[in-house]
Amino acid sequence: ESTLGAAAAQSGRYFGAAIAAGRLGDSQYTSIANREFNSVTAENAMKIDATEPQRGQFNFSNADRVFNWAVQNGKQVRGHTLAWHSQQPGWMQSLSGGDLRQAMRDHINGVMAHYKGRIAEWDVVNEAFADGGSGARRDSNLQRTGNDWIEDAFRTARAADPDAKLCYNDYNTDNWDWAKTQAVYAMVRDFKQRGVPIDCVGFQSHFNNNSPYNSNYRTTLQSFADLGVDVAITELDIQGASPTTYANVVNDCLAVDRCLGITVWGVRDTDSWRSEQTPLLFDGNGNKKPAYNAVLDALNGD
Ligand code: G3I
Repeated sequence: ESTLGAAAAQSGRYFGAAIAAGRLGDSQYTSIANREFNSVTAENAMKIDATEPQRGQFNFSNADRVFNWAVQNGKQVRGHTLAWHSQQPGWMQSLSGGDLRQAMRDHINGVMAHYKGRIAEWDVVNEAFADGGSGARRDSNLQRTGNDWIEDAFRTARAADPDAKLCYNDYNTDNWDWAKTQAVYAMVRDFKQRGVPIDCVGFQSHFNNNSPYNSNYRTTLQSFADLGVDVAITELDIQGASPTTYANVVNDCLAVDRCLGITVWGVRDTDSWRSEQTPLLFDGNGNKKPAYNAVLDALNGD
C-alpha cells in the first residue's frame, strides 16, 4: 500500500495524526492529512478548557470542526481528553473536593453525550502519575479529591457511552524499567481484578534525548496487553525523526496483537508542539521525510 492508513489497515490497525482545528484551512495540511491517515485525534479542541469554558456551558465549535472533518473524510476519531490536571478552564482550576469531583463527572457526561456512539477510543484520564522514581500519583486538584478519582472517571465514562473504548493515557510509561510504567501497570491490573471498566492504555511515546525509545518497548506493550486491555501508541513523535527508531516503534506495535494503531502528534514538523526537534514524518514543506518511508515500509512488512 502507498499510504500510512491503508498500509496499517492491512493488519486491521489504524495510522492517525493529531489534527489542529486552526489548520483545517491550510490545503497543504489537509491534503496530506486526508491522504495519509485514517484516524484523527483533536490536538487541543476536545480538551476541558475548549469544550466547557464556563461551568455547564459546553462549546463544541472547534471540536466539531475536527470531528466533522474526520468523519466526512472517512476517518475514525480518538477522543482526547476528559479528565486531566492540565488545560482545565479557570473555573475548574479553582474547584476542590466533592464539587470538583462532581464537575469532573458532569464534564465527562456532557462531552461523551455529544459524541455518543461516534468515538472509537476515549482518553478518559490523562497523565495521572508522577514522573521520576516514586511511582506515585501526580499531585493535582483531581488527585486531592481522593485516590478513587480515576476509577470514578472510568465508571462515569462507561455509563455515558458504552460503545467507546475507554483508555488511560500517559507519557514516560513506555520503558518497562521505569517506576511510572510499573505504577500504571499495577493500576490497570487492579482495575481488571476489581471490574473497573478500562479497555485500553495509550502510550504517548514522545521520544527525545532525555527519554528515548527503549528496546523493551515491545515488552511494555505486550505486558499491558496480557492484562486484558488493548494498547495504542497515541502521540508518537521522535526528536530528530530517526527512521530506524520510527520503524522499531511500528514493528513493536505490529508484533502485539492487541496494539490497535499508531497516532503521530502532528502532520508536518512545523505543526509540531516541539517543531525545533523536527520530530514528525513530513517536513515544513509537506515533503515526506526518510522516517515516512521507514514507517510505510514497516507497515507493509518490507
Ligand atoms: O490557541 C491559542 C492562541 O489563541 C493564543 O494566542 C496562543 C498564545 O499562547 O495560545 C494558543 O493556544 C495554545 C495551543 O496549544 C494551540 O496552539 C496553548 O497556549 C498551548 O498551551 C497549547 O499547547 C498544547 C499542549 O498540549 C497544552 O498542554 C499543544 O498544542 C499540544 O500539542 C499538547 O499536547 C499534549 C497532549 O494533549 C497530552 N500529552 C502531551 C502533549 C504535548 O504536550
